[in-house]
Amino acid sequence: MVLSVTSVNKSFGDVAIIKGVSLTLSPGEVLALTGESGSGKSTLLHMIAGLEPIDTGEISIDGNSLSDLSESENAALRREKIGIVFQQFNLIPSLTVAQNLTFQARLAGKKVDIAPLAASLGLADQLSKYPEQLSGGQQQRVAIGRAVAASPKLILADEPTGNLDEQTGDQVFDLLLSSARNEGAALLIVTHSDRLAARADRRKHLSRGQFQ
Ligand SMILES: Nc1ncnc2c1ncn2[C@@H]1O[C@H](COP(=O)(O)OP(=O)(O)OP(=O)(O)O)[C@@H](O)[C@H]1O
Ligand SMILES: [Mg+2]
Repeated sequence: MVLSVTSVNKSFGDVAIIKGVSLTLSPGEVLALTGESGSGKSTLLHMIAGLEPIDTGEISIDGNSLSDLSESENAALRREKIGIVFQQFNLIPSLTVAQNLTFQARLAGKKVDIAPLAASLGLADQLSKYPEQLSGGQQQRVAIGRAVAASPKLILADEPTGNLDEQTGDQVFDLLLSSARNEGAALLIVTHSDRLAARADRRKHLSRGQFQ
């Protein structure tokens, strides 16, 4: 099991945001997470990424329970095993496309063969450009490339197509799916689109912090 979430609860102040959520993901499996705005999708992803502490329950990545890890062990696990694609592309503006693509993998001490990666992303001609010189769809493809470059076991994508028009969104979704499947990575993808969610192996719907 790449990911196991067991009976996780999380409150902000007095407000319960995630209530007894459990899920598992196997290698190569694609899970779509849907749910209305404010239902807790991003909070759940942040907790899985170790960016937000949980109150009770357990989250394990590749057999490591996050609560047992120190802050620095948590960061190392995130670097080595998790690729994250945010809704806002979060590229580093002062780095070129090539540097953005390899940045995280280098932090994890992994070498990246950039030519085939860029080719698979349709970015071969863009490598020396800076993010501001790219379209939204191109920027999101860089963000996906960066997330998959270090061959993570788990890819977390928070509405990666939310800022894109339908056609570009479809292309980005395809790319994420094929990148995950080619790498044998488990993929957890948040989407508001039923059409896109239907293409995942499984889907789960979060409603006010609980799975339906
Ligand atoms: N740091 C925080 N402090 C207090 N409340 C928070 C915090 N982060 C999120 N919340 C609240 O938790 C709830 C869930 O937020 P979350 O961002 O997880 O929703 P979401 O399902 O990702 O929504 P969207 O589809 O709009 O992105 C919201 O009511 C939000 O206001
Ligand atoms: Mg969100």
